[in-house]
Amino acid sequence: MYRIGDEELEEIKKVLQSKQLLRYGDPSRGHLQEVVNFEREWAEKIGSGYSLLMSGGGTSALASALIGLDIGPGDEVIVPGYTFIATASAVLNAGAIPVIAEIDETLTLDPEDFEKKITPNTRAVIPVHMQGLPADMDRIAGIAKRHNIKVVEDACQAVGGSYRGKRLGSLGDVGVFSFNYYKIISCGEGGCIVTDDRSVYEKVLVYHDSGFTFLSPSAKEVEIPIFIGLQLRANEIMGAILRAQMRRLDGILSDLRRIKKTFVEELKDTGVRFAPVNDLEGDCGVVVGFQFDSEMEARKFARGEGVNGWLPIDTDKHIYSNWEPILEHRVGHHPRMNPFNFPENRGLRMDYSRDMCPETLDILSRTVFISLDPDWTDREIEEGVKACKKALK
Ligand SMILES: Cc1ncc(COP(=O)(O)O)c(C=O)c1O
Repeated sequence: MYRIGDEELEEIKKVLQSKQLLRYGDPSRGHLQEVVNFEREWAEKIGSGYSLLMSGGGTSALASALIGLDIGPGDEVIVPGYTFIATASAVLNAGAIPVIAEIDETLTLDPEDFEKKITPNTRAVIPVHMQGLPADMDRIAGIAKRHNIKVVEDACQAVGGSYRGKRLGSLGDVGVFSFNYYKIISCGEGGCIVTDDRSVYEKVLVYHDSGFTFLSPSAKEVEIPIFIGLQLRANEIMGAILRAQMRRLDGILSDLRRIKKTFVEELKDTGVRFAPVNDLEGDCGVVVGFQFDSEMEARKFARGEGVNGWLPIDTDKHIYSNWEPILEHRVGHHPRMNPFNFPENRGLRMDYSRDMCPETLDILSRTVFISLDPDWTDREIEEGVKACKKALK
């Protein structure tokens, strides 16, 4: 989260004064409809037909998205080896098995390896727009279409970004966002799905609210039989904060992109290699990425005085080789609730090893990111650029 202040305070105050914190309520009795309005405005902003906000974050939203697509035991879902563990754990939460694929130099899913890893059991792929960098959606969606595979976009780290003029999240069958504290906009914790598919939306709606679905106004519109899921309802305070955060979003992105552009312009004559980006215009500008020939060179640059660089290889659970519970098949509270033990999943690819994606480990160990801040002053930007120039000499 980059910016928060008086606007959010005002919105929270109104909700507290209304004394109606549950997402459901009667507007004629003073209920403010913050969650419902957020969902409508968010669907419009992203360019999708439906949106559903939930507590439990991007992790729950990813699992709900897969469940909405009827993915479960017997299914394989392809995920990149560079993403937060939640992307893969959500597949297990749905009862399916994650298959780990390589990234390419763009730090996102390698379309070639994705295609290579498809088998008759592959039901979905989750391209992840890591660090706000858009995945190669044209190629990924094209391959998925040819093989009849569903696409769930993990846009948790790329809220508001776009690819070829369309907002990230609107390019697959379902898009997923996180609003946790570390994301571009935030309400502390929370997640959201968007989709154009009414049946997916209904299934996610029922799954995310196993109590009120029986009573709520939206229950009347649901055509599928109501089943038992979880309780992941968003509350009115979340909706109110996010509506204020949403108004800040395009300003944050435009400042991040301006700063990234300055870094790229100022450093291009040094001969440094920037990490390639699938769509520079749509990139969120959260980071500027540099690539080197070796980890040693990368570390030397990152450590340069005033550079404040970091290597993605050091980011623990964002790299598949550190997903111990998954690599070791430790899932669920009971052995029979562990998808790795489900009879339907017998024969699926679950033989993981720490070195199964060597390209991914290589790219992550010779990439350096510098995290950008939309509120940097011109002087701070200038100093950052100067430090990079010095370290690159
Ligand atoms: C790429 C990615 N996917 C999923 C998640 C999970 O989101 P949450 O923490 O809101 O559950 C995160 C969170 O850091 C993430 O970075």
